[in-house]
Amino acid sequence: MSRQSKKISTSRIQNGIYLYTTLIFLIIIKLIILVVDNLFEIGVTKYSNPYFITVIASIIIIQALTWMIRNKGYKGIKHALIHYSTVLNLRRAFLDSKYYNIRFRLNKKIAQLPRIKIEFEKGLSIGKLYIENIHMEKDISASNISIALNRYVVERSYLSRDEKYYIFDIFESNINRQLIFQSSDELREHALDSDEQHLFIDKFTSIPMHSSLFVGQTGSGKTYALYSLILQMLLKSEKYKLYFVDPKNSSLSVMGEKITVQNTASNFNDIVNLLKKFIDLMNQSKFELKEKLGTKLEATYADFGYPSHVLIFDEFASFQSQLQSMEKKKRDEVMSLISQVVLEGRQLGFFIWFVMQKSDSNLIPTYIRENLPVKFVIGSAEKQTYVTAFGPGVDIKEKDFQLGEGLFVCPLIANQPKICHFSYLDFNILNAVEDLNE
Ligand SMILES: Nc1ncnc2c1ncn2[C@@H]1O[C@H](COP(=O)(O)OP(=O)(O)O)[C@@H](O)[C@H]1O
Ligand SMILES: [Mg+2]
Repeated sequence: MSRQSKKISTSRIQNGIYLYTTLIFLIIIKLIILVVDNLFEIGVTKYSNPYFITVIASIIIIQALTWMIRNKGYKGIKHALIHYSTVLNLRRAFLDSKYYNIRFRLNKKIAQLPRIKIEFEKGLSIGKLYIENIHMEKDISASNISIALNRYVVERSYLSRDEKYYIFDIFESNINRQLIFQSSDELREHALDSDEQHLFIDKFTSIPMHSSLFVGQTGSGKTYALYSLILQMLLKSEKYKLYFVDPKNSSLSVMGEKITVQNTASNFNDIVNLLKKFIDLMNQSKFELKEKLGTKLEATYADFGYPSHVLIFDEFASFQSQLQSMEKKKRDEVMSLISQVVLEGRQLGFFIWFVMQKSDSNLIPTYIRENLPVKFVIGSAEKQTYVTAFGPGVDIKEKDFQLGEGLFVCPLIANQPKICHFSYLDFNILNAVEDLNE
């Protein structure tokens, strides 16, 4: 029984044992010298004292310095302590789950644990964790790492380019990402502080302009998510031209009419006409931009000071079901208008945001959905909703999301679904629109 409980130690534990043995050994020698010196009254303690103290003190100082450097103590003592406890927990977990290689040192079995690096950001609330890929047979999964991390949770994981490290994006589990605005002025202030080319979503997330998909059950906060983005775009009105489509003729069309009556549509024919108008503008802009684009590889509308045109399409499925009752020619015509924007709009600055409860292929054609670079699933959703939005390859555990909270993907920013939380808007939105639109 006792043989079984004998634990394998790591080189760090082993070094600690050596170090403490040395310290104890030194102290014993010192005591012996003291006693002997006292007995025979030789008087060497006078000389030896400073040496012993220096040796012991320097060992302790070196230890403390190593600890500080290893845990990046120059970033503050709190940083060092959290770094230390996180690494310690991980090393324990690796020992328990036998994620190590066996080495022999002085004929003793030593567990060689993977190297661990942690880079914290934003005041310790998020970070990147690097764990050396050392074990041929074992794969370390994100959820196992989450268990080993006390106060952090893994958001996504991937291999480093050289495949020598697993990288985990981690965040504090009780973190509050959501921005709360009590007035439109507060939102204005925040928007002026943030990046010109992006729209912010929460404390950690902002996105560039793309055609996008917003999915979520009724009441999950999709329309409010739109409001928080629309208000930002109104603040930079010279950069954005907005178009509103709301087949259910509910709150978004009320807002649209306040901002731009001529570019707001809610009944079927008006919507189709607005789409046609949108495409006409796009083609006109294509004509204008054509020569300019030729002068510069990979240039887009923004490089020449053109605004983004964003058509916001709430409750798209409701329009789609109306469309399904039409003859095929009409259906094809409308869908080809829409896909033209999605496919060609990026360089020209024309975008559509589709907002719907589910994104199944009978509600939005797959070739359109798959060409939307940015996708949000807001609120709690069924597995199937995530699969249709993000594709079958992603591994998502259902979580209990709050109002306006959810997952998103966006090129360069989130290749795997990442958590985001839209701003809480605690003010009268229509009044704010009136103020901003002046
Ligand atoms: N970000 C938010 N800030 C303030 N209230 C919100 C927010 N998101 C949702 N709500 C509240 O929840 C209700 C439903 O949100 P809504 O955006 O209309 O959901 P959906 O469009 O997904 O059906 C809203 O009427 C509002 O009262
Ligand atoms: Mg809505």
